Order: sequence, then C-alpha cells, then structure tokens
Amino acid sequence: MAKQEFIGSYIQSFDEALGGGFPRDHIVLVYGAAGTMKSTLCFNVLYNEVLAGKKGVYISIEQSSLSLLKQMVKMGFDISKVNIEVLNDADDVIKGLTRLQDDEAKKLTIIDFGTIRKQLQGKKAAKNKFGLSGDMVESILSMVQTLAKKKLCDIVVLDSMTALYSLTELKEPRSEIFYLFEFFRDLGITSFVISEENHDTHSSRFGIESYLVDGIVHIMLTERNRKVTRELQIRKMRATDCNNDIFTLEFDSKTKKFKALYGGKMPLV
Ligand SMILES: Nc1ncnc2c1ncn2[C@@H]1O[C@H](COP(=O)(O)OP(=O)(O)OP(=O)(O)O)[C@@H](O)[C@H]1O
Ligand SMILES: [Mg+2]
Repeated sequence: MAKQEFIGSYIQSFDEALGGGFPRDHIVLVYGAAGTMKSTLCFNVLYNEVLAGKKGVYISIEQSSLSLLKQMVKMGFDISKVNIEVLNDADDVIKGLTRLQDDEAKKLTIIDFGTIRKQLQGKKAAKNKFGLSGDMVESILSMVQTLAKKKLCDIVVLDSMTALYSLTELKEPRSEIFYLFEFFRDLGITSFVISEENHDTHSSRFGIESYLVDGIVHIMLTERNRKVTRELQIRKMRATDCNNDIFTLEFDSKTKKFKALYGGKMPLV
C-alpha cells in the first residue's frame, strides 16, 4: 500500500494529535461558532502548503476577498510570499480562468463569490457558462475542474457550507453534497469545508456533512472564570489514530503561529 501523505495543520503540536497531519485527499469539515477563526485556520493551512509547493484554491461564498485578505494580513501572513490571484469580476470569470497559466508556482487562487454576486445583483441575464446567477454548486464544480486541469488546485477551502445552503435551494441536500464531495475526491483534491455551528444542535446545518466527510475539526469558544479561550477538538479523522481530547488553541502574536496546548492547561491570564 502506498505510504499515506499528509497535509500539515500548521498548528504547533497538532500534527501529532492528528496522527501525522490531515491525510491527503481527505475532506475535512471545520466547524464552529462565529469568529472562532475557522477561515484563518483554513487559510493558514492553504498559505503554508502553497509555500511548500502545493497549489491552493480558496472559495469564499460570502466574505469578499478584500475582507478575507485584510484579516489574514492583520494576522501576520506575508501574502507577498505567495502568488495570489483573485477571481472577482463577474464579467471576466472565464477570461480570468483562461488567463491563469498551467502549473504556476506558489499559486493561491481566491474565488470571490461574495463580490461576484454583488455585481450580479439585479442583472437578470448575467448567466454564463459558469451559471453564476444560477446553480452555485455547478459554478463551483466548473471552476474547480478548470483549475484542477491547469494543475492549480491540490487543496480547496470552501467557505462556507452554511453560506452555500443559504444561497442554493438544495432539493436533496444529502445527495447534492455527496456529489460535490465525491467530485473533489475524484479530482484527488484535499478539501476543507467550513461550516457555522448550529446553536440548537451544536452541529453543522443539516448534520449530514458529518457523515459524508472524512474528518471533523471543531473550534469552540469556552468560558472559564470569565476568561474565554478558543479550543480545538478532532471529532473524527478516518484512517488515523487521532487524539480526540480537547486542546487550547492559541495564536502567538510574536511568531505569528498557531499552537495547540494539551493537558488541561488553564487559559493564559
Ligand atoms: N491578531 C489578530 N488579528 C485579527 N483577528 C484576530 C487576531 N487575533 C484574534 N482575532 C480574531 O479572529 C476572528 C476572525 O477570524 P476568522 O475570520 O478566521 O473567524 P471565522 O470563524 O471565520 O469568522 P466568521 O464566523 O465571521 O466567518 C475575530 O473574532 C478576531 O477577533
Ligand atoms: Mg469565516
């Protein structure tokens, strides 16, 4: 059997908990409440893997690329080290995709559906090859397929499933989401899908992604003695001997790196 390859978590001490890292080709659900750093955590993986030679695609359904990049610069990512390409022009998506050369180095492509949708608002006839005014899932599939053909897509972040659900009327969510995930799998893409936590059920919206994905990482905001910390838990990771305990998630503002603290360490005062 071929040796398992891993995608790093780029969270200090967390790869050990994962049993080596995120297995390549896995579909990993990252879910948590608002502001728990879901996007930053996934961008962190993508950015560092791109620096290490992989090709990354960040699909933002709601948040504009400008707002996303502002957050990442604030967190200390040196985005000049990677070759970022933003696709955010509704009239130019196809051209934008065509313009991208095959196998460009250190490429991180951001598909900014937030901005594209804003441009299309009120434009009824704007439907094009990518069905941008129509079926969101189909648009995503076409774009990812084109990028994969150009060898520009080893890892995908889909931010977020929650936004996707709110924009698309999924008649049969389970089979449509299954289809989307299988498509990623068939292309050999490692994917991170973000989902907002449902306050009532403490799971993601339909709860079905949990069964369809290979791995689940939960980020929580936990209050103890009026101190609030972020905590991280691997709830599932197929084919790995992972540690399901809860870690404290910290961001070291000096080194600009995430770390996972283990062993019931109290929050820093
Ligand atoms: N150094 C920092 N710079 C910027 N934001 C920081 C920093 N440290 C912590 N944060 C927090 O990061 C959070 C935003 O991160 P991010 O956008 O990744 O979260 P999210 O879970 O994706 O949010 P949303 O639910 O809005 O999508 C904010 O709550 C912000 O306070
Ligand atoms: Mg986010």
